Amino acid sequence: MTGGLLAQATPALQALTAYDPGHDLPALRRRFGGGGAIGGLIELGSNENAWGPSPRVLSALANAAATEVWRYPDPLATDLRGRLAEAHGVNADQLVLGNGSHELLMQLAQIFCAPGDEVLVSRYAFAVYPIAAKAVGASVVVADAWPAQHLMSRGHDLEAMLAKLSPRTRLICLANPNNPTGTWVSTAALAAFLERIPKSIPVVVDEAYMEFADAPGLTSALGLRQSFQNLIVTRTFSKAYGLAGLRIGYAIAAADVIVLVNRLRESFNVNALALLAATAALADDEHLQRGVTQVRAERERVAAILRGRGLHVGPSQGNFLLIDFADEAAPIETALLQQGVVVRPMLAYGLPQCLRVTLASRAENDRFLQALTL
Ligand SMILES: Cc1ncc(COP(=O)(O)O)c(C=O)c1O
Repeated sequence: MTGGLLAQATPALQALTAYDPGHDLPALRRRFGGGGAIGGLIELGSNENAWGPSPRVLSALANAAATEVWRYPDPLATDLRGRLAEAHGVNADQLVLGNGSHELLMQLAQIFCAPGDEVLVSRYAFAVYPIAAKAVGASVVVADAWPAQHLMSRGHDLEAMLAKLSPRTRLICLANPNNPTGTWVSTAALAAFLERIPKSIPVVVDEAYMEFADAPGLTSALGLRQSFQNLIVTRTFSKAYGLAGLRIGYAIAAADVIVLVNRLRESFNVNALALLAATAALADDEHLQRGVTQVRAERERVAAILRGRGLHVGPSQGNFLLIDFADEAAPIETALLQQGVVVRPMLAYGLPQCLRVTLASRAENDRFLQALTL
């Protein structure tokens, strides 16, 4: 770092490794041709929505660009917050928007954790939780996940998490469904887990992929809000709503938690175009449901084909599959990339034998299946 200021940073940041976003996609797009189109690069590495946003979003953005860009956005996001609150049956003061749910996860760690505190996660949890914890000097306590042979292959073992609770636990984070495993915990199991957590410990249930879920017994933790004041649910417009590029997500929690996020967040953290786009996206349930239905169908179809080829594919409730290639994962990833198919290596998650593949359109998924010579 210039001027030798690295040594002046907090010890936590000196030791921190930044989030690994995967491949250099702009470079790959230049090499293979624009993202998404069949014949060009097939992007299955970031769990985005292959169908893109509702056409209503695109027309809202086209009309807005000329009028909105030079005004600051509504710092309170009153209109969208009101609509989301109504959609979820909560009060508007129980909801806050973030520049992606990633931002909210970072803020929640800043709010609740200090050096010496512990953030409890499961093995194979979303990579942002350890970063959020370590950035504020907290330590990350990792509970073992189910073994690969378990029905919920590599999924969160809630008993193992409970066993890791300590007087220093200040925050618990879990995604449901989880990225990168695709596994889930039932609402009943989550409720039983929350019963055993002291009410003074905030529990973040990250529902970035909840729209894609259809497993029996799996519903949003929002239904448990009344019983657990320490529950914080995060959601995003990046996945099922197809707005990853605009960066907008939200958290629903007790009003006093929202007050704390509002103290910390930059007042204009969600930009004007993102606010408009999310409002338009929310109004087009048909588009949302169409995409979700296709993801669910492709999830079954692609998993069955891969299992038919003798591969271990974990159960998934997300818009992606975690596939175990044993010793072959690295050469297979390279071979796919040479054919213009991007998937996500899992070394950073401690799963070097696995690749995570986003479920896109049938044609794109078929390109992946063809490129995979197994
Ligand atoms: C489990 C999980 N949570 C949160 C996010 C962050 O989503 P965003 O910041 O785009 O809202 C992701 C993104 O991949 C994710 O997989």
